[in-house]
Amino acid sequence: MQPYKGKIIYFPQYLDLSQRKLILQKNMNDANLIEEEYVWTDLSRIDLNALSENQYSSLFLGDESYAGSENFIKMNKIVKDIFEKDYVLPCHNIKGAWNLVIKTFEKYPNHQLAIFFYNPFEHFHLTNLINYYKIPYSTNANNSLSNGSQNQNNLISILMLNSVEIFGYGDITKLVENIRDRSALMIGDFSSIFSLTRADLNKIKHLSKLFDVIVIDACFDLMCNNGAILVTNDFKYYEYLTEWVVAFEGLHTYGGLAGRDMEVINAGLIEAQNQQMWEYKFNSMGFLYNNLKHLSSKHSNFKLTDSYTPHYFYISHKDPNINNTLFIIGQVRGYNLDNHLFIFLPSRRYQKQNLELFLDTFERYLSDPNITNIIDPRQYVSHNFKGIEIIQLFSFERREQVLKEAGYNTFLIPASEVYIDFLTDSGTSSISDEQWSKAILYDQKRAYNLLRDSIQEVFGFEYFLPTHQGRAAEHILSQTMIKPSQYVINNMYFTTTRFHQEYAKGIFVDLIIEEAYKPEVYHPFKGNIDVDRLVDFIEKNGKEKIAYVCVENNVNMAGGQPVSLDNLKQIRKICDHFGIPLVLDATRIAENAFFIKEREQGYQDKSIKEIIREIMSLADAATISAKKDPLTNISGLILVRSQELYKQMVKMLNIFEGEYYNGGLAPRDIAMLAQGILEMTDFYYLKNRIEQVRYLGNLLKQNNIPIVEPIGGHAIYLDAKRFLEHIPQDEFPAQTLAAYIYLYGGVRTMERGIVSAGRDPKTGKHKYPELELVRITIPRRVYSKEHMEYTCQVIKSVYDIRHEISGLNIVYEPPFLRFFTIRFEPIKQIVKLKT
Ligand code: F0G
Repeated sequence: MQPYKGKIIYFPQYLDLSQRKLILQKNMNDANLIEEEYVWTDLSRIDLNALSENQYSSLFLGDESYAGSENFIKMNKIVKDIFEKDYVLPCHNIKGAWNLVIKTFEKYPNHQLAIFFYNPFEHFHLTNLINYYKIPYSTNANNSLSNGSQNQNNLISILMLNSVEIFGYGDITKLVENIRDRSALMIGDFSSIFSLTRADLNKIKHLSKLFDVIVIDACFDLMCNNGAILVTNDFKYYEYLTEWVVAFEGLHTYGGLAGRDMEVINAGLIEAQNQQMWEYKFNSMGFLYNNLKHLSSKHSNFKLTDSYTPHYFYISHKDPNINNTLFIIGQVRGYNLDNHLFIFLPSRRYQKQNLELFLDTFERYLSDPNITNIIDPRQYVSHNFKGIEIIQLFSFERREQVLKEAGYNTFLIPASEVYIDFLTDSGTSSISDEQWSKAILYDQKRAYNLLRDSIQEVFGFEYFLPTHQGRAAEHILSQTMIKPSQYVINNMYFTTTRFHQEYAKGIFVDLIIEEAYKPEVYHPFKGNIDVDRLVDFIEKNGKEKIAYVCVENNVNMAGGQPVSLDNLKQIRKICDHFGIPLVLDATRIAENAFFIKEREQGYQDKSIKEIIREIMSLADAATISAKKDPLTNISGLILVRSQELYKQMVKMLNIFEGEYYNGGLAPRDIAMLAQGILEMTDFYYLKNRIEQVRYLGNLLKQNNIPIVEPIGGHAIYLDAKRFLEHIPQDEFPAQTLAAYIYLYGGVRTMERGIVSAGRDPKTGKHKYPELELVRITIPRRVYSKEHMEYTCQVIKSVYDIRHEISGLNIVYEPPFLRFFTIRFEPIKQIVKLKT
């Protein structure tokens, strides 16, 4: 499975047919030349790798001293650990590295140069250099390797190990040993040595011993965007190399790289040892290769290389226009060189849907030569990765221990022990490259101005206040708008919202429609307020007794269920009639708008932004936890129309939060929020997101696993009452289920049932809520389809043994908000995972 998740994403730019044609024209009708941003799945080069979080942090750890930087010293140590050689020389890239190597040949007069595993279509950069220096050489690819046409000891051998796999070789150790025996100087291209050996360090060390010089292009297994290193154990040879490094590259301790580039390579050298990475990349490449082979098998004009490496293969063809056509059809491309279309797969940038897009485009290219129909790539995936975080699954035994130590409470499990983290969608989004760039660019007042512009554009409110997060906004709004013993009418509740209403001495009332409490019942807008009961309630109590009506968009506790605009308009009318304010909890307003566009009559042709504006136009004020739909890791908002209320709120904000322009947030978070508000209105982003949630929900349904329906916007809710029907509610079925889902697959979810509901303060007894649920909450722009498939398998494996599972006993319980720190022990023994 994809062993990483998204941390920084970017949106490629969609082009319609005429734009695609124009861009191609502007680039001399050569798809190779088009800017990467316009290509949805760009298989034209390898150096488009997404960096890991460690590599990004390495950018800041770069020591930019001219000589003897820390990064160089560290590089020496890491290289020595892996290759057991003493000397390393960084170079600006692979061309710089080969140049230095070739320059050393003048120290070997009367020697002959032979290149093994040579591939003229991939290695022409090397032979261009050799030809430039007019050095004679022979290329000894494939079959003549073992029968030794050069049996002298004056052979300089260059072994292009990065390509052996496209020739379909198995284990090449014997071959290499054979060449070693016949060579005076052994030079190896180790750019793919980690993937080739599936990160088997013993094998790497053994191969390393057979070479005098190792050349590594950092864009392959090290997953960098530039750079190369040379490694040798021979001091004399190292001296030869360093003689020329000052002329061509830089100094021997930085070799034409920034300190940060070296540090990124260092991180790459560590990460390349991750076997899961190569297993996954081989699978991805195999998926592409086998499908392309299958597609083109009926066409005699296409021939694929015998096999593939995890980084590339190519297709021989006869169509000079192939790459341009692929771009026009699906905004994808390979790299075309004469009659060869290279398929390079950058590491960690693309999800499986990107490959599906490429394959579908190729299929269309073969079946529809006149291009009667183009493909919309946004239907496949809305964003690609620029930065990733590696995830790791530990053993069952380790998870069992971790769970025990966490008292069977998923809140108490360290995140590093979690494989897939579906605890919450709050503050867990990945950040886009635009958000990062604005975060770096803007300081206090300008960040505020940026936020003001976004708020006016998307929400249409004149007065607003940033807060550090949603509950802070709720605190200020509740204190400003609720008089003691006034009612506040809600659609279901959220914990912190209700808490602040009650903390302001308001009386909480829930008037959501009754369907919301029936997990098995379908209703398109389960978040709606029962307007008849609303009118009754107001008439019975009098408008003075009511502080405001508070409507939450996409009601979290009901399963991420939307409110319809029709319902909102009716509520507005009622509020107007009685003179009661209408307040929104607009935390998930964009996802709500998506459902309105999808389900409510008359909104199919409206944009998400228009729908959000219409929802907002009905409200007098709103609070937002901007850690959800607005795509930030921290921040919240208050929006308000009344200048009078605004002034009162600023006073509260100054006491509790910060200044009116920052709410106690760093300017970078304000800038990220400003950009996030714009990004959340992108229809295709929302579609991808909600379809991902639905994908998981439907997989679970296909396996007969009981969930709340319809499937909501941000989460799937498992119905633990039906899942573990033999466990009584006071033995905590949802808590038990969440514990088992972690135990069986390292997937972290959250209990939303009797534990979350807490105790009745008067009687001290458990409250017995109607819904006993486990929330599987999907962070935005982080996980991929494959993670959903895996999660379904894990839950299925728990479902299969559900009858053997027993519940939990409490061993520690805090006085309030108990779900965070409560601890349990299992009533009977844990059911072990059967393998
Ligand atoms: N309103 C809703 C609907 C929420 O879902 C949340 C938080 C808040 C308000 C409070 O905002 O956390 O920024 O202070 N929900 C998180 C969750 C905690 O996991 O559902 P906050």
